[in-house]
Amino acid sequence: MAANSPAAAVKGVAKTLARRRQAVVGFLFALVVILVLHTTVVFGPFQPTNGNVIIQSPTGEQNARTSSPPASPASSVPNNSTQAALHDIENGQKDDATKKEGQTVKNDASDKMQAELIRQELDQDVKHGAPSKPICDLSDPRYDICEISGDARAIGTNRTVLYVPPVDERGADGPEWAIKDQSRKYLEDIMEVKVKTLSAAQSLVAPECTSKHDVPAIVFAMNGIIGNPWHDLSDVLIPLFITARAYDGEVQFLVTELQPWFVEKYRLILTNLSRYDIVDFNKDSGVRCYPHIVVGLHSHGDLDIDPARTPRNYTLLDFRLYIRDIFSLPSKGIGIPYKEANKKNSTDDNTTVTEKQKPRLLLINRGMSRKFVNLPEITAAVQAAGFEVLVVEPHRDMSLEEFARMLDSSDVLMGVHGAALTNFFFLRTNAVVLQVVGLGLEREAMHYYGAQAMKVMLQHVEYFIAAEESTLYEKYGKDHPAVRDPDSIHKQGWQGAKQYFWAEQDIRLNVTRFAPTLHQILQTIRE
Ligand SMILES: *[C@@H]1O[C@H](CO)[C@@H](O)[C@H](O)[C@H]1NC(C)=O
Ligand SMILES: *[C@@H]1O[C@H](CO)[C@@H](O)[C@H](O)[C@H]1NC(C)=O
Ligand SMILES: *[C@@H]1O[C@H](CO)[C@@H](O)[C@H](O)[C@H]1NC(C)=O
Ligand SMILES: *[C@@H]1O[C@H](CO)[C@@H](O)[C@H](O)[C@H]1NC(C)=O
Ligand SMILES: *[C@@H]1O[C@H](CO)[C@@H](O)[C@H](O)[C@H]1NC(C)=O
Ligand SMILES: *[C@@H]1O[C@H](CO)[C@@H](O)[C@H](O)[C@H]1NC(C)=O
Ligand SMILES: *[C@@H]1O[C@H](CO)[C@@H](O)[C@H](O)[C@H]1NC(C)=O
Ligand SMILES: *[C@@H]1O[C@H](CO)[C@@H](O)[C@H](O)[C@H]1NC(C)=O
Repeated sequence: MAANSPAAAVKGVAKTLARRRQAVVGFLFALVVILVLHTTVVFGPFQPTNGNVIIQSPTGEQNARTSSPPASPASSVPNNSTQAALHDIENGQKDDATKKEGQTVKNDASDKMQAELIRQELDQDVKHGAPSKPICDLSDPRYDICEISGDARAIGTNRTVLYVPPVDERGADGPEWAIKDQSRKYLEDIMEVKVKTLSAAQSLVAPECTSKHDVPAIVFAMNGIIGNPWHDLSDVLIPLFITARAYDGEVQFLVTELQPWFVEKYRLILTNLSRYDIVDFNKDSGVRCYPHIVVGLHSHGDLDIDPARTPRNYTLLDFRLYIRDIFSLPSKGIGIPYKEANKKNSTDDNTTVTEKQKPRLLLINRGMSRKFVNLPEITAAVQAAGFEVLVVEPHRDMSLEEFARMLDSSDVLMGVHGAALTNFFFLRTNAVVLQVVGLGLEREAMHYYGAQAMKVMLQHVEYFIAAEESTLYEKYGKDHPAVRDPDSIHKQGWQGAKQYFWAEQDIRLNVTRFAPTLHQILQTIRE
């Protein structure tokens, strides 16, 4: 049946080039954030080369593919795509015509096909030197992506996706790509999936389908640097939302390097984006045939969505509302908990003004780096300012449903710059994200969290600590460059910045200095 998917985003090559520069900038930031957010993890070397350099996977597993160099993207992607599209239409019509001709004698068909193939092979230099459609697009600095429409066959244990072109589009040989199927194309850990257009000869002996499916499939990797909420969302879930949401669940996921904990933790999201079983692709030895296969995930920026590049103009706000919906949190119109509670009380009873429910502040304390060293003092100050305070120390295996409900019932999410703040997606519209910004993290605060919080209709408040509130001050003294002039450390490169600002720095909040920020937030909430 023609279970045709909603129009997958058709990305013109020209459009891609136009946003290339923006994307390069994004990519550089991405490199930074990879390192930024993982202060305790040791990383392999990065390959900052912005070309089609293949990074050899160090793990020699049974699946390891031989690193055949990918087809050069420049040469395999025709640059007059309008012409290419027209060409496709012509081919389609020709297909119909051929059918009519061959209607009487069925047995002739395969002979004719053979003859056609031979003719094509002779002809192909003239007419079919290149495939009529590019399958893989390697032009984005963040991700590579392939889109196959027609006869697409996926063989998990071979990490291979094949395209069997229609008879009249087959060539003497077909291009081949090696794709890192996630949003970080330079990450060493992400292993490649081979995508290949079969040649005329190969098409004749293409592996037979062991299962046929009516819906499209998306192949993507569930490894990389996931493991904290920022990367889980920025590297996988938001790219998956961008790539899969428009299918309304009518799509199947073929997952390489499947991580059971990730599937478990994000079950609600994954099962909504696809109503079909997730396939553990590494272990899948069948030949799965689909009308459409996407290999890789689109990604637009750090924890971000560019609506102009999504099939249905999804925004990051749509993503937040979607997530809340999936987690069965109250819908769009509802106000922050404090407003809702006191709204009810004031209509019920005008005598309970003094009994009003206090606004709730959920305080995230990081376990390892960038933690609050004077937590009791801080919680006392928050309470004294008129909040109810709830302290949470998030960890990977914590139930997301439970945490989501906690966030939904909070008016303020407070934490030091770090991945746990990503949970702001569960807050209600107009709730406050209070980010405590350590030394040397001023720009990052806005780039990785602040800008996004504002995009999704939350209020973002930054508290920039004074040098004295950083434990770097106690440790190195006021004259150390990391304390006196953090920018000078940044200028010397990533290693120093990572060590001082992300790994070594804890926060001793000066509650006297902090108090006005709390009052300001209280005011905002009461407005
Ligand atoms: C195609 O690309 C080549 C190389 O970039 C360029 O010289 C040529 O003018 C382009 N042709 C069209 C039609 O854009
Ligand atoms: C553009 O495509 C058409 C049709 O495929 C081809 O004849 C023409 O040579 C191409 N032009 C360029 C500049 O590649
Ligand atoms: C998988 O790869 C192996 C080794 O290259 C090959 O022999 C086999 O035919 C492939 N399987 C399929 C179904 O194509
Ligand atoms: C996904 O969630 C939406 C609500 O946001 C719902 O309308 C839709 O039916 C769900 N789809 C699946 C496959 O569960
Ligand atoms: C939605 O996206 C499409 C395709 O990018 C674009 O043409 C259209 O103008 C957008 N509509 C809105 C309302 O932004
Ligand atoms: C309303 O006021 C009462 C005290 O009279 C308080 O216990 C309650 O939390 C407030 N909010 C709601 C929603 O009832
Ligand atoms: C408020 O409560 C008092 C005492 O219960 C009552 O006399 C008064 O009419 C109420 N006012 C309003 C506006 O409901
Ligand atoms: C805390 O902040 C207050 C107000 O800015 C300031 O007067 C005081 O010196 C600070 N305390 C310390 C220990 O830095």
